[in-house]
Amino acid sequence: MGLHNLYRAAVAALLMSAPLLGSAGEAAALYEVYCTQCHGVSGDGNGINAPHMSVQPRDHTDPTEMGTRTDDDLFKVIKHGGKAINKSVLMPAWEHNMTDEQIHALVDHLREMCCSK
Ligand code: HEC
Repeated sequence: MGLHNLYRAAVAALLMSAPLLGSAGEAAALYEVYCTQCHGVSGDGNGINAPHMSVQPRDHTDPTEMGTRTDDDLFKVIKHGGKAINKSVLMPAWEHNMTDEQIHALVDHLREMCCSK
C-alpha cells in the first residue's frame, strides 16, 4: 500500500472512530493525518519533516502572519498547493485528497489555531 493510500486509510479510520464529531472534529483529524508531519502536532511549524526542508512550513499558530491571510488565500493554498499563491511547492496540493467542504473545515480549523485566543 502506497503512502497516499495509507493516509487515506488512516483518515477513514479516524473518521469512523469518531462519527459524531462533525466538521470541527473532522478538520482536526484531517490536520493530524495530512498536515502535522510538516506543520507540527500543535501547528507551530515544527513537524518531523521541517528540519530537512529548504522552506520552513508556516507556523499556523502565529496570529501576525496568519492574520494577514484571507480565508480565500488559505482555501486556495490548501487546495492547489504553495505554487498557486507563489509560495513553495513544498506545500502540497490537496485537491485530489479532499472535498471543498473538508478544505473549508480546515480553513476554520486554522483560524482557531492562529486567531481565536
Ligand atoms: C510536505 C510538507 C507539508 C505538508 C504535508 C503540508 N504543508 Fe502546508 N506548508 C508547507 C510549507 C513548506 C509551507 C510554506 C510555503 C512557503 O512559505 O513558501 C506551507 C504553508 C502552508 C500555509 C500558509 C501559506 C501562507 O499563506 O503562508 C498553509 C495555510 C498551509 N501550509 C496549510 C496546510 C494544511 C492545511 C496542510 C494539511 C492538509 C498542509 N499545509 C500540509 C509544507 C507542508
